[in-house]
Amino acid sequence: MPTRQKHVKPEPQESSSSDIQAAKGKLGVMIPGMGAVATTFVAGVEAVRKGIAKPIGSLTQMGTIRLGKRTDARSPKIKEFVPLAGLDDLVFTGWDIFEDDMYTAARKAGVLERELLDQVKPLLSTIKPRKAVFDHNYVKKIDGPNVKKGKNKMDLAEQLRADIREFKKTSGVSRLVTVWCASTETFIEQSAAHQSVKAFEKALTQNDENIAPSMIYAYASLSEGVPFANGAPNLTVDIPAMHELSRRNQAPICGKDFKTGQTLMKTILAPGFKARLLGLNGWFSTNILGNRDGEVLDDPGSFKTKEESKLSVLEHILQPELYPELYGKFTHKVRINYYPPRGDNKEGWDNIDIFGWLGYPMQIKVDFLCRDSILAAPIVLDLVLFNDLAQRTPELRGIGIQEWLSFYFKSPMTAPGLYPEHDLFIQLMKLKNTLRHLRGEELITHLGLEYYD
Ligand SMILES: NC(=O)c1ccc[n+]([C@@H]2O[C@H](COP(=O)([O-])OP(=O)(O)OC[C@H]3O[C@@H](n4cnc5c(N)ncnc54)[C@H](O)[C@@H]3O)[C@@H](O)[C@H]2O)c1
Repeated sequence: MPTRQKHVKPEPQESSSSDIQAAKGKLGVMIPGMGAVATTFVAGVEAVRKGIAKPIGSLTQMGTIRLGKRTDARSPKIKEFVPLAGLDDLVFTGWDIFEDDMYTAARKAGVLERELLDQVKPLLSTIKPRKAVFDHNYVKKIDGPNVKKGKNKMDLAEQLRADIREFKKTSGVSRLVTVWCASTETFIEQSAAHQSVKAFEKALTQNDENIAPSMIYAYASLSEGVPFANGAPNLTVDIPAMHELSRRNQAPICGKDFKTGQTLMKTILAPGFKARLLGLNGWFSTNILGNRDGEVLDDPGSFKTKEESKLSVLEHILQPELYPELYGKFTHKVRINYYPPRGDNKEGWDNIDIFGWLGYPMQIKVDFLCRDSILAAPIVLDLVLFNDLAQRTPELRGIGIQEWLSFYFKSPMTAPGLYPEHDLFIQLMKLKNTLRHLRGEELITHLGLEYYD
């Protein structure tokens, strides 16, 4: 019989629950891009607040965290374990190039049914987009009238900062978080303008073409001391200038690209193949989707940004350098096809060619009929709440990149030179162990020998 050891609660470590500031007052949520994902998120939060729907898919709302030994039977809800803002405390604003209020935008996005939308209309119809900072060269497939004008990019950044201050004042919120839910911008690489805050600010005044609109929002947000999470694969905050600004102003950053649909499946399946040492010859992924995101991704520049984000996943999980016979030469292809009849209801097919004992080949087919924004909305909610928590936590607020939030991203940001962790299960363990660490609880290693002493 395994002996039951009495669990001794560890001494609180350097950081303890008492160091985390309480979530007092309202939390302002600022969203560049009030399209399918943003409206599904806000409508969902309001529906949950009204008790007409459940926050399914949200770790902060439904997840639990095991503390101590398996025999201790201590598994509180995450939201009871760490001091998160409550849903009733969230207040929303956003920017978009179109003038539609959130109710109209949600109707056009066609994700949620009218019956549900009409019940949350009183809130949604009051959220009107602020004028956007937009450059058609960065998103070729769309154009809209609700756009700021300025003498240069620094002037546009100042206008965004004025928006942020105005929202904070008029809404009476005590804290803010920004989550980028706007379109995927065209592919760009790091350049000299991105290397330091000083170089970036000079480039802003010189209207440098290497500064994308998303970077102007990020700069404005971080300059105001507001955390910034990047839901698209754009470079945005993944440049040294933003790392510097984030640390300097104690405004956490994280990204890139919400991990939903096909990549979510990939990061669930690939760790399983590696765990059982099944080899991989090839992985062909194709999608059809018909929402505006699909239309934007129909442009080769925007698709390239997305493709880079989607392709890196398998290399990192399968580690071909460690397992050359199993993963040394697989083919990985990703296709996205814009197909209007599908709207937001994407279909993603995967054909996976694997091999097993003695090299015998096998195939796996996955056909995921998913709903993109339904999968993304709870991620937005969790990122809002966790970034706010990070800013109230002394140990996290000044470190810049919040790698513990990799769980939510296709292409997680890491410290320079560090490879990202893509395996969903390692990411979840990292996230939960971070929370345990912050509260001075023992980390869970799953060793378990103590049960057999
Ligand atoms: N839905 C998912 O599963 C998922 C997953 C990962 C990433 N994403 C990314 O999230 C983003 C939003 O997706 P979506 O389906 O809501 O797209 P969407 O096209 O419905 O919404 C994007 C909105 O951003 C607006 N916009 C574009 N550029 C802007 C700017 N500079 N400032 C302000 N607004 C701007 C557009 O007008 C549009 O209303 C996209 O970048 C997408 O690639 C979505």
